[in-house]
Amino acid sequence: MEGVEANKTHCIVLAYPAQGHLNPMVQFSKRLIQKGVRVTLVTTHFYCKNLRKENYNSISIEGITDGFDEGGAMQSAEDWETYLNKFWQVGPASLAELLEKFASSGSPAGCLVYDSFMPWALDVAKKYELVGAVFLTQSCAVNNVYYHVHEGLLKTPISEHTISLPGLPELAVKDLPSFVYSPDSYPVLSKLIVDIFSSIGKADWVLCNTFYELEEEAVKFLSKVWPLRPIGPAIPSMYLDQRHQDDTEYGLSILNQNTEVCLKWLGERPKRSVVYVSFGSLASLNDEQMKEIAYGLKDSESDFLWIVREPDEAKLPKHFAQTLQKGLVMRWCPQLQVLAHDAVGCFFTHCGWNSTLEAISLGVPMIAMPQWTDQTTNSKFIMDVWRVGVKVQLDERGIAKREAIKQTIKEVMEGERGKDIRENSIKWKALSQSTFNEGGSSEKNIDDFVSTLMFSPK
Ligand code: UDX
Repeated sequence: MEGVEANKTHCIVLAYPAQGHLNPMVQFSKRLIQKGVRVTLVTTHFYCKNLRKENYNSISIEGITDGFDEGGAMQSAEDWETYLNKFWQVGPASLAELLEKFASSGSPAGCLVYDSFMPWALDVAKKYELVGAVFLTQSCAVNNVYYHVHEGLLKTPISEHTISLPGLPELAVKDLPSFVYSPDSYPVLSKLIVDIFSSIGKADWVLCNTFYELEEEAVKFLSKVWPLRPIGPAIPSMYLDQRHQDDTEYGLSILNQNTEVCLKWLGERPKRSVVYVSFGSLASLNDEQMKEIAYGLKDSESDFLWIVREPDEAKLPKHFAQTLQKGLVMRWCPQLQVLAHDAVGCFFTHCGWNSTLEAISLGVPMIAMPQWTDQTTNSKFIMDVWRVGVKVQLDERGIAKREAIKQTIKEVMEGERGKDIRENSIKWKALSQSTFNEGGSSEKNIDDFVSTLMFSPK
């Protein structure tokens, strides 16, 4: 599309207010802007107020209400229900008001791209006769499983030991998303997630943050039932293509990145010597698990950079962070810059979909310790399908003990298996980068999407 004179279609990108949802939608917005589309990113008033925008100049951002403009929502899974229901009650009117403001200021919206967690947005798009594009922030494999549950083709609770679904390898029950294999643990949330699938097929486009080569079979299957287009990996172009050295901006974080401290510390470490450890923006580990990780990392004798968010800090062994010889503990970091650093040898991860795609795109081997939601399925693919990582063994109570952690780190950093994993990681990195070359699979899908917007009436 480069060089094509765009008519500046105004596209609203409605992002759900969570780090793992906002990051890919910000990146997608940037791609649209590069191609001549006018984009306004919309998220909640509370998130808007608290975003760290200092590295972020290229996108207009507006807020709508979720009913919690002063924050305080979503502390736990139960709060999610209250939160999502409240957002559903008040979000549509607030979004409609914003659309009317754009129309009266002479810049009407022509398209609404919305996170699948806000299915009500499609009704608003239809009411205002906008192109409606749903954005899936999780993998095609995971969406495929939910699709089958929604259609009643996979019944829960599940009684079989293994599951065979079209477009997917054979999965053990615990390889399914936790909301599917254990719906009783989060009854309301599990239902809400599956209900989202009622409207996906009614959208004009279904955009998914994945790439064709990574999930070919799942993409082929879902393309038969939805107007699906993989458009990922949604990470800044400079990590995929050397021609875009200036595109370093990542997600809009509400946390301090500690960029200088982390990069300086990594800069003082040898190539491939560091284990980077992070469990994303939501997961909270129990006391015992935190201590086992702490001692496992220490016993591995590897250098490590461990992101421990504030709620988990008190669970560390006493004076742990202050007395480390080989480790650095931080509350948050610029994860992509860390993964791209040549001092990093592997990523000990909870397997959130963004973290997974980021590690794949940067060729970093993984140690997988999934916590919940889609992470269980992602970890299966990491270990057995793409073969870019190893799952850490859990004991009978579901705890990864220090000895298992130490052994897995050694296996991935130094062992024969590690070599094999590194080779696969390099292969997937190259494939991921090819998706945004000219004619690359995701590049082509975004071009198709943009070209229909250019011809849409508004
Ligand atoms: C959640 C779910 O847990 C995940 O499974 C789902 O796929 C998306 O929503 P989260 O747990 O935060 O997301 O994990 P993940 O998807 O990996 O997203 C975390 C994001 O925060 C990544 O983009 C990562 O780069 C970023 N991050 C994380 C930082 O920038 N700095 C950090 O220190 C840690």
